[in-house]
Amino acid sequence: KIPRIVVVGSLNMDLVVTTPRLPFIGETIEGSAIHYIPGGKGANQAVACARLGAHTQLIGAVGGELFGEDLVRSMEKNGVAIEAIARLEEEASGTATILHTPKDNCIVIVPGANGKVTPDMLEKNADYIRNADLMLVQLEIPTETVWHALTLAKASGVRTVLNPAPARPLPDELLKLCDYVTPNETEFLSMNGRSEAVEEGLSGEEAWAGLLRDWEDKYGSKVVLTRGSRGASYLEEDRMHTVSALPVEVVDTTGAGDCLNAALGYSLAQDRPLHEALAFAVRAASFSVTRFGAQAGMPALEDLRKQ
Ligand code: RIB
Ligand code: NA
Repeated sequence: KIPRIVVVGSLNMDLVVTTPRLPFIGETIEGSAIHYIPGGKGANQAVACARLGAHTQLIGAVGGELFGEDLVRSMEKNGVAIEAIARLEEEASGTATILHTPKDNCIVIVPGANGKVTPDMLEKNADYIRNADLMLVQLEIPTETVWHALTLAKASGVRTVLNPAPARPLPDELLKLCDYVTPNETEFLSMNGRSEAVEEGLSGEEAWAGLLRDWEDKYGSKVVLTRGSRGASYLEEDRMHTVSALPVEVVDTTGAGDCLNAALGYSLAQDRPLHEALAFAVRAASFSVTRFGAQAGMPALEDLRKQ
């Protein structure tokens, strides 16, 4: 069956500056290129879902300048339904300035219109949430809106995946509404008010298992811990179970987390068990890092068959 997925989240224009290394504080260096590419965690996850074949609706907002038009058009081109993307003439579109080096990325986001996605806008589009099989949401829109989205979904029995990125403190009541949370290691530690997982007398994996267990007991949601090139882990029978990433030639990791979330959601929406959904998601994310740009690497099903 073709899953129906609703994504509540951001659209950004990514200003990707390719540079040999990061500058030091106060230093000026020369980069080799700048690309303007549609991104934003909400948009990236929506494109990934649509490319896998889901009916995908994105609820969000863009600004009144040309970027806004580009962003909406690129969603449409990728098969994402755009009826619920507001065009806020007075606002600027969200941007992400990305310093892309051979080793790593650094990102500064300016929310713009994403910061104006209100609970009220969700009310107007509530049917898209109610009629979905699953909802994906991230943290590039206001907390109260994320909260409202989760409340609406919960009230209609729609399953939810919260990708807590970029990490920020969240109310307990909000966290209790999620079915799945998908932090990376740094995000999960910061959500737990910690700087490292390792505790005295425990191996790393045992310490992680303890953190996941406590979280799941407290909030009643399932934690999927994403671990970059090592894949992703979750708690199974009280032990860490890890799905390894495929060894690939890394071109650009921007959007890899979004790809993982989208593929996980797509697969869960088809009622696949978590271990199967996560194996699929990790494979999709491994594919995504082999292409430049957040959305260009989102695989279609046949890309994954060929892998
Ligand atoms: O997750 C990747 C995304 O994060 C980029 O597309 C950029 O917009 C940033 O928000
Ligand atoms: Na990529």
